[in-house]
Order: sequence, then C-alpha cells, then structure tokens
Amino acid sequence: MEASPIITLTDLEDLAAERLDPHWREYFAGGAGSERTLRENVAAFSRYRLRQRVLCGIESVSTATTVLGQELAFPLLVAPTAYMRRAHEDGEEGMARAAATVGAGMCLSTFATTSAAAITAVAPNLPRFLQVYVYRDRGVTREIIDMAIDAGFSGLFLTVDLPVVGSRDRERRIAWEFPEDDLPMVVFAKERGLDAHGTVPVDPALDWNYLEQLCESVTVPIVVKGVLEVEDAVLAAEHGAAGVVVSNHGGRQLDAVSPTIEALGAIAEAVGDRVEVLFDGGIRRGTDIALALALGARAVLAGRAPLWGLAAGGEAGARTVLELLRDELATALHLMGCASVGDVGPQNVTRIGAA
Ligand code: LAC
Repeated sequence: MEASPIITLTDLEDLAAERLDPHWREYFAGGAGSERTLRENVAAFSRYRLRQRVLCGIESVSTATTVLGQELAFPLLVAPTAYMRRAHEDGEEGMARAAATVGAGMCLSTFATTSAAAITAVAPNLPRFLQVYVYRDRGVTREIIDMAIDAGFSGLFLTVDLPVVGSRDRERRIAWEFPEDDLPMVVFAKERGLDAHGTVPVDPALDWNYLEQLCESVTVPIVVKGVLEVEDAVLAAEHGAAGVVVSNHGGRQLDAVSPTIEALGAIAEAVGDRVEVLFDGGIRRGTDIALALALGARAVLAGRAPLWGLAAGGEAGARTVLELLRDELATALHLMGCASVGDVGPQNVTRIGAA
C-alpha cells in the first residue's frame, strides 16, 4: 500500500472511496430506500455502553473461539459481499488469504467473482462457508452447494431476506446492472439452463419446509442469514438450523427495520442456548464486536469494512482492516476485564436510558 498513514478503518474507507470505480462504489456503499437502516446500523452502537472493569489480574487475553466447530483466532467472518473483484483485482482470493493470515473465517457469496474451489486452492486452512441463494431450480442450487462441500466448505449460510431485491435508489440512479458473466456460480447455473437474468431466479416463495429439507439432506450445518425478529429465530431453530445471523443485509433490503444491534439481545436470549447466534451490520470497530458479543453474539460478520480495505489496498488492505478489528477487540476485552470471548456477556454492557 502507499505511504498514507492508516490508523483507523475510516482512513481506509476514505482511500477506498477515492480508488473505487464510482459506479461500483455506489453499488457497494448503497442501501435500500432512504438508507435509514443503513445509517442506523452504524449509529445504533452508540446507544450502548461497554462496562470497564479494573484490577482484574489479566495478563493477556485470548480472542479465540469456534463457529460451527471451526476454530477462529478471533470471532469474525468476512461477510458474503458480491463482486469483490470489482473492488480490487485481488478479489475473493485476496480476501481469503487476508482472512486466513489473521485467523478470521470467510463466508463466500453465491455472487462471488470466483469459485469455491479457487478459494480452497489459495487458502486451504481458512474456515470457510458458502452463502446460498436458493434458485427456483432446486437441482442447480444443490449442485452449487455440493461443489462447495466438495471443496471443503464446512457450512451454508442460507440468505432468507431477499425474496425480492430491496428498493435501492442508488442502483436505479446509476442504472446498475447485474454483470453475471463475472460470477462463476451464476454462469454455472446458466449453463445448467437457469433461464433468467440477475437475481430473478432466486425463489421468492421459499419457506421453512425448504430449510428443513435442506438441513436433512446435507452433511454440513446450515445457518439462516437475515433474521431480525425473535419469532423467525425460533422458527429457524425449530426447523433444524444450526445458527442464525441477525442481519438486515447491510441495510440493503427493507429500509426502516431495526438496526441489527437492537435486534440482537432478544434473539440471543430466545435461541442462544439452542443455536449459534451470529451478527452483522455496522461493524467498524473492535468495540462494536465487543458490544455484539456482550449482547449475545458468538461471532460477527463484517462486509463493507474489509471490502473498503480490499478496495484501498487489495489483500494487504483487507488484512490491515482485519488486524485493526482484531487488535482493537483484544484491547477492549482486556479493559473490560475479560480474559476470553467466553467471558463476555450481558454483565459487560448497558443501554442508554435503560432502567
Ligand atoms: C446485494 C445482493 C447481491 O445485496 O446480496 O446486492
């Protein structure tokens, strides 16, 4: 990377904004509607307070954990953002190497500009999962899933909050189109006869029965990604999911829904003893990860933050972001008096205005 001093993630976000093709910057940065939820995802963290504890006798902290049985050096997965090669030529392979270097995991998008096998080739030890969009053609969907499992992916993240694409003003303003030739998994589906453009083949009528069937028919655990309400988290647990991601798709789907950090606590309380509760939305600091852990998340996913690193400086830029988040988290845990992520819980957080 160039000599500009990178101290915080904001520095990298500014650099990314300069370097990204303006068209793609709008696609990556944008949200749905008035972007209230997009903004609130970040802003809502400031309604919570970490509790500092002192004289805890902690020499050093461990940020290690597991997600779906996979060991992570710190509780973060790179979220499944589409089209990484349009952010930087290092693409998903660069992101995967960066994640592997820092001990994070990665969830690869169905709309990735590379294949699952290519990720395995560059980062064989990376804890890796596949994000799945379910097509109307269930056979093609299953073939894509099987290719990832064959490539050593150890879980599926079923995206359930996109029966239709959200109403996205920025995408309309730039007349954004879905360049599917960039996407090996989409190209594969088309070669198998999937006859539709862009996200249209995604089945809008997906239901809980499909989740149950899928859970019964694959050998890897399934996480339901895109849950915001307790009722849905309970249904996911009842239908065989191994986990849920509390997520509003980075504010890109239904505007005016809750920022994810506000939805997390109740969901973790309702199902945290049965399934792994993961979280995404608005992570920009290690202290944001600490707040999510305190409110019941086992680990977080971060999408735009590492993407800005990738856009700013390729694999090295993504690694810088992940290192910043990891080191800030370790510092926060120490100052909270927590020797490990397992020690973090509701006792470490208060909400402004709570009685
Ligand atoms: C998006 C889809 C591709 O948010 O996940 O643009």
